[in-house]
Amino acid sequence: MEIKNRYAYFEGRIAPIGDAKVSIMTSALNYGLAVFEGIRAYWDPAQRRLLVFRLDDHLERFWQNGRILCMEPPAPRHAIAAAIAELLRREAFRSDVYLRPLLYKSTCEIGPRVHDNRCDVSIFATPLDRYVNTEDGITVVVSSWRRVSDAAIPPRGKISGSYVTAALSKSEALLAGADEAVLLSESGTVSEGTVSNLFLVRDGVLITPPISAGILEGITRRTVLTLAAELGIEVAERTVLRSELYVADEVMLTGTATEVAPVIEVDRRPVGDRTPGPIARRLAKAFDNVTHGRSDGHADWCTPVSL
Ligand SMILES: Cc1ncc(COP(=O)(O)O)c(C=O)c1O
Repeated sequence: MEIKNRYAYFEGRIAPIGDAKVSIMTSALNYGLAVFEGIRAYWDPAQRRLLVFRLDDHLERFWQNGRILCMEPPAPRHAIAAAIAELLRREAFRSDVYLRPLLYKSTCEIGPRVHDNRCDVSIFATPLDRYVNTEDGITVVVSSWRRVSDAAIPPRGKISGSYVTAALSKSEALLAGADEAVLLSESGTVSEGTVSNLFLVRDGVLITPPISAGILEGITRRTVLTLAAELGIEVAERTVLRSELYVADEVMLTGTATEVAPVIEVDRRPVGDRTPGPIARRLAKAFDNVTHGRSDGHADWCTPVSL
């Protein structure tokens, strides 16, 4: 992807992206000691504004995850929210945008440690249309790698270092001719995708693995659970076994980048009739409506930034 952005939030101010550079000695770079967020802002051409989706929830998770690595952003939450709005205005992308706040160990000391050392926040923005083919659906394979456990690198933390497993799994899937990977937890139950949560449908019930399956507590997952309840779809958070993916009526992956992506094939086996299923379609439509500010009920999920 060609990156055309010109600015970033770096060391407390909006700077030209070329000036937003860290030392090769930075702890975050050497040891993966950082937590990050992925936030989408949707372009509203009629009102010439971007709608940042669930900004408060993303910032809440950012702060929480920082605590896991003993990090407190050096600027208050309202300042980071203001920096995001300012960055969007400066970049002035008239398209859907992906934002990447990173809270990282900026210390240059030798040796990994989480306490009593310096951290900083950086944020960049880049145009992002679809991350995967949400229209036609995607194919997935179950990864031979396992999702990290809370006893190793807390999966709730969106910790940079843990994305080694995501990268290994994604490459394994792509090299096998699939679009995405599904990871099993250390105990062998279904966990999630590389950058997405997983849902399946059996007998009309929308099922998703619980937090204890080593998942990231996805904001899109929470959104989908809310929308499903509003649509009168029965939901269940429970342990999912791999073989259930083979017999499910529908499977889908959800995430900020991924959005609501129907899965049409698992391990070379078709899901349903190998087209996006009816519940996935309904949820994708409802999701599209709320993210574009077309849903009366959830206006508070969209933070407008006028360009
Ligand atoms: C490992 C992982 N799981 C799930 C998700 C989905 O989370 P969210 O919906 O908050 O983007 C992401 C992406 O952020 C992720 O990286």
